[in-house]
Amino acid sequence: MANVAIIGAQWGDEGKGKIVDLFTDDADIVVRFQGGNNAGHTLVVDGKKTVLHLIPSGALHPNKLCVIGNGVVVDPEVLLEEITALKRQGHFMDDAQLRISEEAHLIMPYHKAIDQARERLRGEGMIGTTGRGIGPAYEDKVARVGIRVIDLLEEETFQEKLQRNIEEKNIYLKAILKEKTLDFNKLHDSYSVYREKLRSYVTDTSLLLDREMRAGKQVLFEGAQGTLLDVDHGTYPFVTSSNTVAGGVCSGTGVGPRHIHQIIGISKAYATRVGSGPFPTEIHGPEGETLKREGFEFGATTGRPRRCGWFDAVGVRHAVRMSGITGIALTKLDVLTGFKKIPICTAYRYDGKVVHDFPASLKIMQHAQPVYEQMEGWDKPLDDVRKFSDLPAQAQKYVRRLEEIVETEIILVSVGPGRDQTILLKNPFHT
Ligand code: IMP
Repeated sequence: MANVAIIGAQWGDEGKGKIVDLFTDDADIVVRFQGGNNAGHTLVVDGKKTVLHLIPSGALHPNKLCVIGNGVVVDPEVLLEEITALKRQGHFMDDAQLRISEEAHLIMPYHKAIDQARERLRGEGMIGTTGRGIGPAYEDKVARVGIRVIDLLEEETFQEKLQRNIEEKNIYLKAILKEKTLDFNKLHDSYSVYREKLRSYVTDTSLLLDREMRAGKQVLFEGAQGTLLDVDHGTYPFVTSSNTVAGGVCSGTGVGPRHIHQIIGISKAYATRVGSGPFPTEIHGPEGETLKREGFEFGATTGRPRRCGWFDAVGVRHAVRMSGITGIALTKLDVLTGFKKIPICTAYRYDGKVVHDFPASLKIMQHAQPVYEQMEGWDKPLDDVRKFSDLPAQAQKYVRRLEEIVETEIILVSVGPGRDQTILLKNPFHT
């Protein structure tokens, strides 16, 4: 029996959705443990594209249990829309397929209003958030004023908490952010409707997971965003507001570390980032445009174009160490077809010195120059390749070199968005 965590090893958008979907075949339960609907997982099954923001990717498999853990911030409106959309597509027909933690915090309309207004006021210094209220919801959680799913279920508690929050947030919205205030009654009414629609899904998910694991069920923990966006270990303050490292699985689900047996880091064969913040290997020129076009690099949640760059081994090594990654799934190798030379960033140069470890200093990160090693490119399209030995020799060399530089085994290579466009070298559930 094995439980596997799948996390992003870069700045998010590494293609986790596809890999989670693939490994869901071996899992009984798929669990989200952090983030919210800032995530966007694009899944292509039988040529049909589905984008999920909140519900774990297991939703597309009829007999898998999907769990939203306590570490997730839940926008009930979005969650209900997603449930309805999935049902319309013929998925998710049994309501028992979804369980939501009582302890997950709710995203409220004032969180979204604050998130968006702050970004506007930051101007040039904006973080480039998704505007979904993620940061303000986590702030309230830590400030001990957040509203949890269980609080919503208890009318009296909900009223009291909402009243207190609305009073405070309205002052902040009006006086500091110069925004419109929110109406208690309107908000109370809409959340009362959500309450009844969500009630049957809510439970103590930590207990549930414990019971299921004792019964021998295999669990897949599905990360959102990526390690370099971790609030503690990423490019702070250009990060998201949760712990995206594998350690977040434990605090975000109420499952102890000894229950996580394999940690798979997902990395693109190059690098992308949405939003602001340092990105040492970013390409400002035609090669970046080629990656954007060939890799269809537009955010699944906001549609924003992603910034593109070369593989940054300093960042991925950091992710490997921070999360204890046991194997890497390398995605989008096919997108690199056609480049004569493919650089790999092995270190940074700053102030005349070579930097091997991911710096905490924003200043160093902003001015770090990549030290590149050049690899030979290849011309053959890879989308039909299904065996590692059928990859062009240069592509094999590229993969093997990445493995050496990040000191971690590559267990899967993805050569296209489809489920079948995958070269599986090792299944983490079978090790
Ligand atoms: P927030 O999570 O909406 O607060 O945004 C904070 C930062 O994380 C911004 O740079 C976002 O672009 C980035 N971010 C949030 N979610 C994702 C994601 O799923 N993929 C990539 N970047 C993300």
